[in-house]
Amino acid sequence: MFHSAILSLILESAITPYLIILTSVFYIGRYMLVRQLDPKCRLRLPGPRGLPYVGSIPFLGSENKLHLTFTKLAKKYGPIYRLSLGSSEAVIISDPNLIKEAFRMDQFSARPDMLFVKEIVSGNGIILSEGDMWKEQRRFALQQMRHLGMYRLASEEDQLSQKIQSEIRYFTDTLEERSGQPIGLDYLLGGVMGNIICTIICGKRFAYDDPTFLGCLSTMEEGFRLVKLSMGINFMPFLRIIPMMNTVYLKIKDNNIATKAFFRSLIKERADTIEVGKTRDFVDAYLHQIQRLQDAEKFETSNFTDAQMMQCVIDLFSAGMETTRTSLEWAFLYMALHPEVQSQVQEELDRVVGIERVPSMDDLKELPFTEATICEVLRASSVVPLGNPHAASEDTMFHGHLVPKGATIFSNLWAVHNDETLWHNPSEFNPSRFLVDGKVERPPHFMPFSTGRRVCLGDHLAKAEIYLVFASVLQRFQVSIPAGESKPDCQGLFGMTLKPKAHRLSMTLRHKPKSVQPATFTEPARPA
Ligand code: HEM
Repeated sequence: MFHSAILSLILESAITPYLIILTSVFYIGRYMLVRQLDPKCRLRLPGPRGLPYVGSIPFLGSENKLHLTFTKLAKKYGPIYRLSLGSSEAVIISDPNLIKEAFRMDQFSARPDMLFVKEIVSGNGIILSEGDMWKEQRRFALQQMRHLGMYRLASEEDQLSQKIQSEIRYFTDTLEERSGQPIGLDYLLGGVMGNIICTIICGKRFAYDDPTFLGCLSTMEEGFRLVKLSMGINFMPFLRIIPMMNTVYLKIKDNNIATKAFFRSLIKERADTIEVGKTRDFVDAYLHQIQRLQDAEKFETSNFTDAQMMQCVIDLFSAGMETTRTSLEWAFLYMALHPEVQSQVQEELDRVVGIERVPSMDDLKELPFTEATICEVLRASSVVPLGNPHAASEDTMFHGHLVPKGATIFSNLWAVHNDETLWHNPSEFNPSRFLVDGKVERPPHFMPFSTGRRVCLGDHLAKAEIYLVFASVLQRFQVSIPAGESKPDCQGLFGMTLKPKAHRLSMTLRHKPKSVQPATFTEPARPA
């Protein structure tokens, strides 16, 4: 009674508007004072303010252009700035030296605490794991890839080289059957690159039209595309229980179940035929490691589990297939759009390799223009435009600013590769920018495989595969835009990878190397 009397007195009083204004000024002033006095707020990086709860997510524009939006914001806020993404903080770095410095630091080598990391991958594998477990799994994978021949590809005697050459032979034979006809290369290249990495991981290749293999490739490709749509749900996890808003989340979950089923059967095939003392591929190496730990009664406390093995296999396959396939799609598209570059590559291949045999890793040192062209493809396409996001594992001071624990750190590799202060006319496709006195030189700001502690684990293999496929195809075929079809633009579709828009090319037979070996797949083993 007494309270309501006072309330109505206040509301009816003439001083009420002044009271409201005074109260508002008080609260806004207090908020600004707290921000000024709170060292964390004062040390924040520059960046747009964003809205409560959703931060800057509604202002990031078209989902196909996130790398361009991030680049535009860098022009306003500088080479390192912050953004609020839902309840989390993101830091975007677009300067190569700052990226190198940040990614050398242990504190910036974690992965973001995203819904998918927790619920789908469970922090397993290599790509999304962190801490000691990540170090152990990464070291093991690198060791095994080395044993399986990833670094010995230069020798023609090498078994891995022979397997890659055999797969390329299947591919070029398939292209020959369709010589001169318009063809979409994406699915065939998915088959070639998928088979190479699948052979390394589980000793198996598939026919390009095998329905199980095609299903796995398309599920994976869809996954790479869906990642860009998952930004909202990753940073605002409550969306996953809201019907209509959770379609992407449910789709990614279903795809993960299908992918695991595909690899489970491959792993079972290897486990059923494994022999003591012999390692045919990565899965064999992992199974031997589990057995060794079981024998030593250390299995219970170790990180080498069936779930870990499954995620490592999926990580190596997905990272190894999609990136190399997309790089090659760009490579052949650029050749069709720049016939003068294509002729120069072919002239070099004809002179150094000739037409009697296929190009080998040993030839590479004599093929500077071909190598420079591949570097230019990797720069111009920036296939992984924002790298893999890192995260800060603790509050860290970086160049006078506080990067709070848990902040997601994006490296804008696309911006680095298109920076006019670093590259002369970056929008021009020009392999010569990588040549100095006829020799290939990669400037320090060329970083398609990222840099630092989490630098791509497959960079050696990727460079070798891309070179072998690119050189073998250009030796044998002329690449062109089919008559009557329009030239696709080179903007790319943004996702985890930046893919060329759908297009077709004509691959017309130039000549066939005489000594191409028939495609064979033997299964050599090395001691465990
Ligand atoms: C053109 C081809 C490729 C490109 C452009 C590429 C690029 C990248 C980039 C930018 C990263 C992120 C590094 C970071 O977190 O800072 C990465 C990570 C990774 N890549 Fe690649 N990659 C390629 C091929 C491959 C291949 C062939 C494999 C497998 C054999 C592979 C396996 C991985 C793995 C496992 C990681 C995670 C490393 C970690 O988190 O420690 N990549 N790659």
